[in-house]
Amino acid sequence: MATFDLVIFGGAGDLAQRKLLPALYYLAKDGNMDPSARVLCIGRRTYSDEDYRALVADACRERLDSTDLSDEVLGKFLRHVHWVQLDATGEDYAALAAHLDDAARTRVFFLAMPPRLFAPICESLARAQLVTPDSRLVMEKPLGRDLKSALEIETRVGAVFGEQQIFRIDHYLGKEAVQNLLALRFGNTLFEPLWRRDTISDVQITLAEQVGAEGRADFYDQHGALRDMVQSHLLQLLCIFAMEPPISVDADAVRNEKLKVLHALKPLRDEQALENSVRGQYRSGGINGEAVRGYLEEDGIDPNSMTETFVALRAEINTWRWAGVPFYLRTGKRLQERLAEVVVNFRPVPTNIFGGGRRSPPPNRLVIRLHPQEGVRLYVQAKKPGMEMRLKRVNLNLDFADAFQTRPLEAYERLFLEVIQGRLTLFMRNDELQAAWRWIDPIQQAWADSGLPPRPYTAGSWGPSGSATLLARSGHTWHEESDETA
Ligand code: BG6
Repeated sequence: MATFDLVIFGGAGDLAQRKLLPALYYLAKDGNMDPSARVLCIGRRTYSDEDYRALVADACRERLDSTDLSDEVLGKFLRHVHWVQLDATGEDYAALAAHLDDAARTRVFFLAMPPRLFAPICESLARAQLVTPDSRLVMEKPLGRDLKSALEIETRVGAVFGEQQIFRIDHYLGKEAVQNLLALRFGNTLFEPLWRRDTISDVQITLAEQVGAEGRADFYDQHGALRDMVQSHLLQLLCIFAMEPPISVDADAVRNEKLKVLHALKPLRDEQALENSVRGQYRSGGINGEAVRGYLEEDGIDPNSMTETFVALRAEINTWRWAGVPFYLRTGKRLQERLAEVVVNFRPVPTNIFGGGRRSPPPNRLVIRLHPQEGVRLYVQAKKPGMEMRLKRVNLNLDFADAFQTRPLEAYERLFLEVIQGRLTLFMRNDELQAAWRWIDPIQQAWADSGLPPRPYTAGSWGPSGSATLLARSGHTWHEESDETA
């Protein structure tokens, strides 16, 4: 158990309340918070420690599973939490300095703030001489809006913190299920020989949400799905899926391999970008039987906004392993289900010996489910009982909750632990971030140059119809649209 001072900029913000503080509760619950550890939450508002703790208690009660909540643990956890009133955009960091009185403790500065404030905050920390050699900086995505702004942030932040001190969060990398993808690929001999163009026909990565832009309108309308989800979560998942086996799970071994994937992504510019992407924006509709507003009617959204709330892309990786295999990436708000999965479609059998004029059996499919119900499902053909040789697709189903009977760590809980222990494997390196923006920027540019608005889709659907057409061009269909029982 390491002791630390964790400073959260944006302590009253959405991210802190929704994800960070509940994750820290788990840290305390699981015995990973040293009794002397301090969580210093920063913001402009005037709260006493008591007021703020009441807010955090409410956030925990609202967010956590009731079976995980205990008043005793909550009480203990809250004693670590303090409110520091400070305008992070101002020059005066004396209020924070007064709390950070022990330079020997590990300091973690967590910027749960808009990216334009990252550099000024770091510079203020330096001016106030609060950055010790053992300090760590955690930056939340998105890091910038494009390559140019990301580089500016990196240069200014890099003048204060060394690369080994910088933890760029992509919380998907902290998810148990994403780590399981590593285990599946490199802890088994079964899959690796099949993980290539000779056997795989296409790969689909979907991160679908039911929530809309509510509560974060200002941020979301300026970023949109490509910057918010594709640049980070989807590309990171793609990298972990497609990278060559690293020589170890050390930070740079893994990050070097991920970087190669980003470098090998076929650029999508101009016409190519338009042909290989679909962007959408939700209109009013229904989610789980409840009527919901359209994006343009959401509070705080510009009624003429051209921001996309849905993206589907057809990407290709130009390497010997992957050339020619389409990687379909898709994400959206207000979709039919909350779903995160990677679907691997294998090639069909070369010839159908069960023939008799019947079409070939549907190819094998591997579905790696991140949520809900984390698990792995492999679709295979089996013979239907009876005299005739008839095949039917069945599945081998592994449900991690059943297999392990333990609560998986929350993404942010794991990431906090990694930061405190100084392990960088689950965080993006500077060059990865730049490579991701280099691929994203021309797509964004092509959309802007086209002057075309995003295509409308009904809330509660699977996005605009163009998304299915994008796959149909190559004879593919999205997983949920294809025949599961064939
Ligand atoms: C965040 C995005 O990074 O991830 C949000 O900014 C999105 O827009 C969220 O809702 C999804 O995370 P999860 O863990 O709920 O899938």
